[in-house]
Amino acid sequence: MSQHVASVASAALLDLARDFAVRAAEFALDARRAGVSVVATKSTPTDVVTAVDRDTETLIRSLILDARPDDGIVGEEDATHIGTSGVDWVIDPIDGTVNFLYGIPAWAVSIAVVEGAGGGEVEGTTLAGVVVNPVTGELFEATAGGGASLAGRELAVNADVSLGSALVGTGFGYAAERRREQATVLLELLPKVRDIRRIGSAALDLCAVAAGRLDAFYEHGLNAWDHAAGALIAREAGARVGGPYGGRENSELLVAAPPVLYEELAAALRAAGIDA
Ligand code: IPD
Ligand code: CA
Repeated sequence: MSQHVASVASAALLDLARDFAVRAAEFALDARRAGVSVVATKSTPTDVVTAVDRDTETLIRSLILDARPDDGIVGEEDATHIGTSGVDWVIDPIDGTVNFLYGIPAWAVSIAVVEGAGGGEVEGTTLAGVVVNPVTGELFEATAGGGASLAGRELAVNADVSLGSALVGTGFGYAAERRREQATVLLELLPKVRDIRRIGSAALDLCAVAAGRLDAFYEHGLNAWDHAAGALIAREAGARVGGPYGGRENSELLVAAPPVLYEELAAALRAAGIDA
């Protein structure tokens, strides 16, 4: 595919992703106003799912399959749908479910379009990504090579921030053992940075890096649907996004920061025992 054809294809996929994300955001917000309760727990008793998570994913899946029946879908709340087109949609109907449950206005619909997503990890090229915060109405978007934007304004990371001045976002998994490890890392890192934020939605954290609301973000144990769209948005805004040993981000580790700060943060994470 020539670069021009690829960018036209990415722009068309972005239009679809934006349309689906906006409709899903309206649906989830209306449902939130009508009331919400936990219907099940997943990996641990605190890893909850609401009926709205499930219904929103069902809506997004049906919109995708109506528009592009040959594409695959990897989503948080339902089984992977194997497509035949080579294009996969990686979706999180509500990223920040605990915030959603408690009425904290930091949850998001996240939709990425990936060429060859693979199963559990994002292995292919992310072509387009959209993250919507339904409460604030903010819509972050990006295409590969086309830049990242928020409400038509081009996004750029905070360049030239050193680790000691950096506001760093992170998140915690649901399993107690994982949290113990995460707390150990935090103990090492906290004295070395301006401060830490735990906002509660990895998708919004990555958009916050893109918008300069955070200088950097890292987390262990994210799933592909948590970060696929946000990672593209952060990258297109100038962040370096990576994973273990400086390689690709995966379910073990994701680090996002402007390139110079990335090196400093990765070194601090290594000093805390992480394979960054
Ligand atoms: C979670 C959020 C949270 C992160 C967790 C994720 P969910 O996703 O992104 O910020 O720390 O690791 O699992 O469960 O709200 O979709
Ligand atoms: Ca999520």
